[in-house]
Amino acid sequence: MLDAANIPQVLQDISGTAITSPEAWEANRERLLSLLSREEYGFLPAPPERTEFKLLDRQTDCCAGKAVYEKWEATVWVKDHSFSFPFFGVIPQTATPSMAFLHLNFRNQVPDFYMPTEEIIDGGFAVFSFGYEDVTKDNGDFSSGLAALFPEPPGKLALWAWAALRVRDHMAQREEIDQENVAVVGHSRLGKTALLAGAWDERFAFVIANESGCSGGAVTRGKQGERIADITRVFPFWFCENYRKYAGKEEELPFDQHFLLALIAPRKLYICDAQEDIWADPAAEFLSCRLASPVYELYGKQGLMAETEAPVLNKGYHAGAIGYHLRAGCHYLSRQDWQQFMAFLKAHRN
Ligand code: GCU
Repeated sequence: MLDAANIPQVLQDISGTAITSPEAWEANRERLLSLLSREEYGFLPAPPERTEFKLLDRQTDCCAGKAVYEKWEATVWVKDHSFSFPFFGVIPQTATPSMAFLHLNFRNQVPDFYMPTEEIIDGGFAVFSFGYEDVTKDNGDFSSGLAALFPEPPGKLALWAWAALRVRDHMAQREEIDQENVAVVGHSRLGKTALLAGAWDERFAFVIANESGCSGGAVTRGKQGERIADITRVFPFWFCENYRKYAGKEEELPFDQHFLLALIAPRKLYICDAQEDIWADPAAEFLSCRLASPVYELYGKQGLMAETEAPVLNKGYHAGAIGYHLRAGCHYLSRQDWQQFMAFLKAHRN
């Protein structure tokens, strides 16, 4: 049973003293990042010694000429070894810089059924993306792809997040992009990845996790559907080894998932769910947003603004710095979700 009283409070330092100022929160933030890295995801590797971006394809007739399509290859060097992966950009042909999404995609195709590209362009946004398995396979093999560059690789979620930071490096070089308004977005396992990327890299002004659920946006204690025992049995390689010891022992975790959400504060965060997706557990995600909100309040901002304990179907909770919606239907990243993301970004543009 979900019960906020059983969940550790985020505004406490290591000695249990209440954190009451942004300065004290920031002093404690690195410790929390390390804690999550050590016990759950593994540590984010240092940035590469060198990165090169090579343009592979460019088309100016994309979306009826409203946008430019580009295919790039990123090559990263770590201690004399290199690894390359492709990524994509679709950028509106406008005179002023565009707000932008970095979409962590399941596939390396543009458009894609999880990425309604023309609609995103019509909304006034650029969208960069990559196919996550072009970075490292979604399995327990750490001897190929990006994983092979590191002697002690973290879990795969952290490796995908590291690759997202490299695409963000590229976006940072682009004048067409409004650098103050870049969102990282992912669905499900890639929603978990988006949260990690956002926690680690403050260049993401917005972080969007769609149906990220267990070990993502949802609190673990009292959660329905997927539990740590389930996720570490089927996908042990997403995490570091330490995480397995919490299978069936959620209450021993020295944190809960709202700590990850809180690491994004005071930047904007957006969490969303589908009504039928009990595996992810909308109620546990909504509670997590509520429990992360006090960190936003330290900065004089409202986090999740909601009057009810459970989310109302199809209501866009867009007023606070933590946005949320629950849509009808099943586990999916739908155009309806994208419409909500675009509305939230426009409402909170920096
Ligand atoms: C599985 C897994 C989830 C994950 C989902 C997805 O259902 O158990 O944790 O979020 O796959 O990535 O689609």
